Amino acid sequence: MFSASAPGKIILFGEHAVVYGRPAIAVPLTQLRATAVVTPSSRPGIRLIAPDLGQDVMLTDAPPDDPIAAVIRQVQTAVTLPTLPHMTITVSSQIPIASGLGSGAAITAAVVRALAEFLGLAHLATPAWVSALTYEVEKIHHGTPSGIDNTVVAYEMPVYFVRQQPQNHIEPFTVARPLHLLVADTGVRSSTKIAVGDVRRQWQEHPAKFEALFDGCGRIAQAARAAIETGDVAALGPLMQENHALLQEMTVSSPELDRLVTAAIAAGALGAKLSGAGRGGNMIALVTPATATAVHNALLTAGAKSVLATTLA
Ligand code: PMV
Repeated sequence: MFSASAPGKIILFGEHAVVYGRPAIAVPLTQLRATAVVTPSSRPGIRLIAPDLGQDVMLTDAPPDDPIAAVIRQVQTAVTLPTLPHMTITVSSQIPIASGLGSGAAITAAVVRALAEFLGLAHLATPAWVSALTYEVEKIHHGTPSGIDNTVVAYEMPVYFVRQQPQNHIEPFTVARPLHLLVADTGVRSSTKIAVGDVRRQWQEHPAKFEALFDGCGRIAQAARAAIETGDVAALGPLMQENHALLQEMTVSSPELDRLVTAAIAAGALGAKLSGAGRGGNMIALVTPATATAVHNALLTAGAKSVLATTLA
């Protein structure tokens, strides 16, 4: 039996603008993980089981857009094996889907790693390799992903990320003083592909306006990185507020997200913003140990379906 896992992620600063080459910051959400288990099988073929999704199919019968089937094809191509041994792949995930926490990338990364181990090719499964294959699968589902999700999920460390050719700029960085974050779910599922497509259309119609919005997000991400590295936690709150306002202008916030952000600030959070593609999904609030409980309760009262506390150290 070969088992591997990968974490969820949160984008702290710079979502959407990161698609257009501006820097962004993302961190792993280590307590929520996706896990893949590969077991050799005496029955012919490759069986895919995802109990959370009620899925149990043979690879040959899987729909053409099945995400796990796509991962297997990517790995098979990458390792240039004409055929794969008989096996059962079981996938499970604690990460809510379509909510900006990187569930798709985490599942893919976990399957890539477990499959590489099963095939005796664990030495190939470096973070860079896992990230690159995960990116190929993300492209199938998301159109034009920036690459930040697969990077943070595969490297499993805080990253400062800039999408660029010929190679993305990926800088792991240190967190000088612990950051206490609450991650609150609006309960509204949202498609990253649609939100990213809407931003692209608006950028095409109003290029100057959107370039300026993206520049603003990029500057915020740079300033935030400096604040995180020097332990200037107080500076991060206003940067989150500014970033949320720019995302509102890009039309990717929503009434539910705005309500949670306002409630968090009113209850004493240092800052709050949506995280990920927006229109639903999750928001994050920066708190201190002294304000955490009040903000947690305020988020639930304001309609959050769940609130997760995480510390970045
Ligand atoms: O909603 P998520 O977690 O898939 O985050 C998407 C982040 C975007 O910047 C909106 C898109 C991207 O590919 O970076």
